[in-house]
Amino acid sequence: MPPFPSEVTLPLASAGAATGLLGSIVLLRLYKLRKWGWVKSNFSLQGKTFVITGANTGLGYETTKALVRRQATIVMACRNLTKANEAIGKMRTELGGTIPGALIPMELDLASFQSIRSFAEELKRTVPQLYCLVNNAGLAVRKRELTRENFEVHFGVNHLGQFLLVDLLREQLFEQRTRVVVVSSRMHEIEAEIDFEQLGHWVEYGSRLNRLYNNSKLMNFYYARELYKRGFNVHVLCPGLCHTDFFRHYEPQWYHYLVFSPIVWLMLRSGEQGAQNIIYAATESVTTPERNPVTGYFISNVKMRRSKFHFDEPTSVRLWEESVRAIAAGSEAKST
Ligand SMILES: NC(=O)c1ccc[n+]([C@@H]2O[C@H](COP(=O)([O-])OP(=O)(O)OC[C@H]3O[C@@H](n4cnc5c(N)ncnc54)[C@H](OP(=O)(O)O)[C@@H]3O)[C@@H](O)[C@H]2O)c1
Repeated sequence: MPPFPSEVTLPLASAGAATGLLGSIVLLRLYKLRKWGWVKSNFSLQGKTFVITGANTGLGYETTKALVRRQATIVMACRNLTKANEAIGKMRTELGGTIPGALIPMELDLASFQSIRSFAEELKRTVPQLYCLVNNAGLAVRKRELTRENFEVHFGVNHLGQFLLVDLLREQLFEQRTRVVVVSSRMHEIEAEIDFEQLGHWVEYGSRLNRLYNNSKLMNFYYARELYKRGFNVHVLCPGLCHTDFFRHYEPQWYHYLVFSPIVWLMLRSGEQGAQNIIYAATESVTTPERNPVTGYFISNVKMRRSKFHFDEPTSVRLWEESVRAIAAGSEAKST
């Protein structure tokens, strides 16, 4: 008869299993850290001007810090100038007391057409040569929130705001072959669609995911596609799941911490690591006739990969047209 595990061997076996599990998680984390990738180039960006929206925190902050360290000039396009100036102070300390390039805070609220127009005017007046525009600012909220022109914020800020901004700068961006970086997300592959019937409206989809956000990130990709087709120097990317202020509107329950902590620890990268994808898009020549937003390629883990989403041409063209219409409608409603 086989021997039963004794009171001694059972705890030993459990301890062994727990150690094995912990070891596997640590190994997996190390593997992921390697896979997520880092930008290796370190050439000077002196004399090059970048505009980064949402530069005061999260990925925008980390991108700004990395580029200014390489002597770039950065226009920090932020909706709150106090926060922008605080971010500059923090960055100065983190960089050892001096900023190698230059930082210029400028006000931009992507939830307001008027603010976007004023920003574009000021930029055209003060920055004659623009190397790169990083459309980074974005949000995800749980409760109904609208922009000044009454568009729900995922559509209004994440998509339409940057659409208007690029449109106002289009001649300069086109003529100077300015790099236009679009920060999308892999969430565009998950439960995302362009819901033309409800475009710009707050919709409760009854999903555990924030589908309005996912839809807006799909719009980012479609938008990058259309810009590329129109001859702009455009790069689209996903930074990966990152530890930033992005989740500020989520209110996790205690058991979420318990259940999801190990998964989050495995999957979550630092803002600095996620920003590598933005830095890569902003400084390296990676798109080719074969690999670009039109053929479904985007930057992820600091290299090009193909989206799982099946993009279709009529949707791509229609989103552009509907966005033009939405801007006209929003502008008209405000002026009456
Ligand atoms: N973190 C992630 O896991 C993750 C994953 C995939 C994609 N992304 C994308 O990465 C981008 C940056 O996100 P993050 O993680 O860095 O988030 P974050 O830490 O919350 O930073 C977002 C930035 O956007 C700004 N912003 C929000 N609404 C704005 C508005 N109306 N006008 C101008 N600026 C506005 C915020 O300004 P305030 O500080 O004033 O609010 C902040 O500077 C977003 O487009 C997001 O969709 C993030």
